[in-house]
Amino acid sequence: MDKLQVEGGRPLSGSVSVSGAKNAALPLMAASILASGPLTLTNIPRLGDLRTMGRLLRHMGGSADLYPDDGAGGHREEAVLSMSGIDRPEAPHDLVKTMRASALVLGPLLARHGRARVSLPGGCAIGVRPIDLHLKALSNMGAEFDLSGGDIVARAPKGGLVGAEIRFESVTVTGTENVMMAAALAKGRTVIQNAAREPEVTDTARALLAMGAKITGVESDELVVDGVDALSEATHRVMPDRIEAATLVAAVALTGGSAVVRGARLNDMAMVLGKFTEAGVLLRAHNGDLHVESDPDLIAAVNITTSPYPGFPTDMQAQFLALMTRARGASIVTETIFENRFMHVAELRRLGADITLEGRTAVVKGTERLSGAPMTASDLRASASLLLAALAAEGTSDIYRVYHLDRGYDRLDQKLNSLGARITRMPA
Ligand code: EPZ
Repeated sequence: MDKLQVEGGRPLSGSVSVSGAKNAALPLMAASILASGPLTLTNIPRLGDLRTMGRLLRHMGGSADLYPDDGAGGHREEAVLSMSGIDRPEAPHDLVKTMRASALVLGPLLARHGRARVSLPGGCAIGVRPIDLHLKALSNMGAEFDLSGGDIVARAPKGGLVGAEIRFESVTVTGTENVMMAAALAKGRTVIQNAAREPEVTDTARALLAMGAKITGVESDELVVDGVDALSEATHRVMPDRIEAATLVAAVALTGGSAVVRGARLNDMAMVLGKFTEAGVLLRAHNGDLHVESDPDLIAAVNITTSPYPGFPTDMQAQFLALMTRARGASIVTETIFENRFMHVAELRRLGADITLEGRTAVVKGTERLSGAPMTASDLRASASLLLAALAAEGTSDIYRVYHLDRGYDRLDQKLNSLGARITRMPA
């Protein structure tokens, strides 16, 4: 297991590029199951969860070639996924336990193969995270489920899944993706109401359209999918990762730097960028590049409440809270999506942050300075939060269990070092 040793207090400068979006690439990799030919994804990020999804697709009997050689000693950020050879439509516990997003194969397997055996995802650090809404929606389409040995054993009707009217009682991102993918090959029309509108859902829909799916209402909260008999091969460029981009903005803001974040799709980030601006971070967009400048002593306290897109993304809550630990004044951070997404708070307090927790709300009183200390990561976005705070803290910090970070960020430590940070990866 590695740790990251961070020498804090260094302003960041220079420019850095954003990688492809993890939370688009994962459903897109699952969508390959639907196609009768290969699905090629370009601009995929290099991170653990995609490698896990690749292992899962190969376990099923498909071929998943990730990061192929570029013939010049490097690798291409591509995945070539040929899933027509699936002979084992199942997602076993040892793979699902490391990556809950494995549940995304359920809809595609039911639609394409009429059956699936998927380990019921356990909870994780940030919450119980059931998939009851996925199962309820798929059963509306005729799927039947049994629970056996911790696995969901799923079957579609003899004639295949049937289109249905589905209304999610609460917004679910992968639930929307699972049902949209299943509906693409179902018989008849499926209407998905209260659909998630996250850009990653839209990116998945765009790839399905390129494969020949019939979907309208894309980007809205009501998706209408008319099932087709087959989906063809396609090539799709994965959208840029809006959460990685915002995490990089927070790093520059916290260290009082001046740097350029390249390649983000700024329209996906309106709410987050608005909050950075409200906090006094100077942002200037130019040809798709984002110039970021800030003075950490002038960061103003700003309140945030997470909510489904286009609201403030829960995946940026921990990182923005880290910024608020250095703000002037008190900030109220309310987490409405997950029941336990403040694991970073106890660790940030070790640097001297002044944070009070009351249920799903954190009150953050900004302090003049943070001082380095050892910390332990608990989940993906918490680990990013600790890293950001360590960059701003005086002195040295050690961050343990960085495998959490490596699951969901593409070489974030290297990207930050290219901006002048001093982060050393070493055995813990
Ligand atoms: C997706 O998770 C993302 N993961 C998460 O990103 C993100 O935090 C989340 O959406 C919210 O934006 C991927 O896209 C792979 P949900 P997902 O279903 O789909 C409850 C990261 O850091 N719920 O929208 O699992 C659930 O417990 C990760 O990159 C049910 O109760 O989230 C949660 O409280 C973390 N029953 C809320 O809804 C269900 O059947 C939203 O969950 C499904 C969800």
